[in-house]
Amino acid sequence: MSKIVRFGIIGCGVISRWHADAIESIPNAELIGATDLNKDALKAFTDDYGIKPFYTLEDMLSSGEIDAVSICTPSGLHASQAVQAANAGVHVIVEKPMAITSEQVDAVLEACETNHVKLAVISQLRFSESIKKVKAAIAEDKLGKIVLGDLYMKYHRSPEYYARGGWRGTWEMDGGGALMNQGIHGVDLLQYIMGPVKSVFGQVRTLSRDIEVEDTACAILEFENGALGIIEGTTSVYPGYARRIEIHGDKGSIKLEEDSIVGWDMADEDDGAHTVSDKAEFSSSSDPTAISKQGHIDQIADFVDAIIDDGKPVVDQYEGVKPVEIILAIYESSRTNKKIILN
Ligand SMILES: NC(=O)c1ccc[n+]([C@@H]2O[C@H](COP(=O)([O-])OP(=O)(O)OC[C@H]3O[C@@H](n4cnc5c(N)ncnc54)[C@H](O)[C@@H]3O)[C@@H](O)[C@H]2O)c1
Repeated sequence: MSKIVRFGIIGCGVISRWHADAIESIPNAELIGATDLNKDALKAFTDDYGIKPFYTLEDMLSSGEIDAVSICTPSGLHASQAVQAANAGVHVIVEKPMAITSEQVDAVLEACETNHVKLAVISQLRFSESIKKVKAAIAEDKLGKIVLGDLYMKYHRSPEYYARGGWRGTWEMDGGGALMNQGIHGVDLLQYIMGPVKSVFGQVRTLSRDIEVEDTACAILEFENGALGIIEGTTSVYPGYARRIEIHGDKGSIKLEEDSIVGWDMADEDDGAHTVSDKAEFSSSSDPTAISKQGHIDQIADFVDAIIDDGKPVVDQYEGVKPVEIILAIYESSRTNKKIILN
């Protein structure tokens, strides 16, 4: 593998600009071109970045000009486009969620194995310094026996938000609502911090928005480490609040707002041993575009290194699938009114 990874972007909508800016800021990455079914969106994007328009994905993948693709299309297309790229021998970084059904997950895993390509799933908050500190505190046993891990995501997305693009809020293209779209970031962080989820009992509802999927969800979780937890996720409350994750042990507790640490109380540390923020720096609680650029830069740089060094991206396909499995289990639990055990 050469020392420069050449990228093509699939889908030139809102999030594609985070990818393009990140790729352009990484020394051993180069942004070559993009493709989009919408010719106006493709022209505006490729003109802005001075890159090549590819009129079909097939053209991009067979051009020999691209080593990796960033998939930034509606969620229901992620798996099939990842499989298509893998089958063409092209590495893949895909926006969350990696896939929206178990069948799609299996197809992606198989295509990556068969074709020996690298795949990374965007979960940019895992790269934040706060999350690294929380992981380290738990690894050092600062919290003692962990008893609770909770996620509260009370966001606001307007009816106009759901109407934009024609895919949001549909089972086929969004794959779910408050959990599968917005909530997946928090679900991934919760399981990343707490470890594997053993079972879920969930209830999901469409209470306030005119959409097919849930706008409100609650679940009780059991973790493999014995702790319990709660997920509350909604996109229907006014005005929308920063996402909170709370981890409690018998020797300490940590509270996060978005990815900022706002509470750090340890029995074995003096008060003030750790500085906490008053509030989150970035929160997409009511603005879907209030997203830091740094997370995408760090994650795409990690993906580029994995390709060049033949290593493993931090959030590879086996990591990317974990929050999807938890969310699908919550949906199944709500449908069947039963507790679902995860394998
Ligand atoms: N990581 C994050 O924080 C974050 C934030 C926002 C969105 N996302 C994810 O990014 C994805 C895209 O979201 P968005 O808000 O940018 O959506 P968007 O609707 O703004 O953009 C999607 C683009 O894909 C194009 N497209 C549709 N079908 C296509 C096809 N078959 N081939 C090529 N292009 C096609 C559309 O024309 C559109 O330009 C979603 O999966 C979403 O979950 C992630």
